[in-house]
Amino acid sequence: MIRLEHVDKRYGNGHMALSGVDLVIRRGEFVFIVGPSGSGKSSLIRLLYREELPTTGDVYIDQFHLTRMRRSQVPRLRRQLGVVFQDVKLLPQRSVAQNVAFAMEVVGASSRDIAKRVPAVLELVGLARRRESFPHQLSGGEQQRLGIARALVNNPVYLIADEPTGNLDPDTAGEIMRLFLEINRRGATVIMATHARDLVNQVQRRVVAIEQGRIVRDELKGAYGHEA
Ligand SMILES: Nc1ncnc2c1ncn2[C@@H]1O[C@H](COP(=O)(O)OP(=O)(O)O)[C@@H](O)[C@H]1O
Ligand SMILES: [Mg+2]
Repeated sequence: MIRLEHVDKRYGNGHMALSGVDLVIRRGEFVFIVGPSGSGKSSLIRLLYREELPTTGDVYIDQFHLTRMRRSQVPRLRRQLGVVFQDVKLLPQRSVAQNVAFAMEVVGASSRDIAKRVPAVLELVGLARRRESFPHQLSGGEQQRLGIARALVNNPVYLIADEPTGNLDPDTAGEIMRLFLEINRRGATVIMATHARDLVNQVQRRVVAIEQGRIVRDELKGAYGHEA
């Protein structure tokens, strides 16, 4: 379970990016974070993988108390999380399969586990036939699939995505959304910050809307709403 309690986030320049945020996300949920540009979506997402700490308030993820934990424990937290960004940062000199394998190598997985797991994840994201290709040979949608494969390969409990379809055309964005739904169906908790109004309205999942750093709406089976 993810729990934010009375979270404020103020940046060094004094800008208040989040104010009084209380939020609970249970395992297995699919949650959209929506709101206008500058409303605080990315700030909220960065708190979840402890890229940032709140100015005040607490963040908990399962047994981890993010606002109290030692730096040395952060890798253990991050092993529970897969993170996907709008701009996929891939290793240009490595093949599709090697990009995914690398995410397992850095956490010390055995070559036997890597050999078994990488093809399964590439199959799930629809890149099995591109395994020997290099990132520059992939379309934008395929690059994002590879980013998702990399985020998934260590079996995270939580998949956290910040505008993952932001650079994609509507059809490709729809395919990526279906992939996130399938990943959620297989058990991962998905938290996605997005601007993609049509996609949010189509799939009828929980919608948490933010405006000027405050949660203004939290609906199960929600729609994007009036927040631009
Ligand atoms: N690192 C930062 N330093 C200072 N201000 C920031 C920083 N990151 C974001 N902000 C400000 O905080 C507000 C929320 O930004 P952000 O969380 O990126 O919103 P969103 O993802 O919804 O567009 C914006 O006004 C933005 O300018
Ligand atoms: Mg953002």
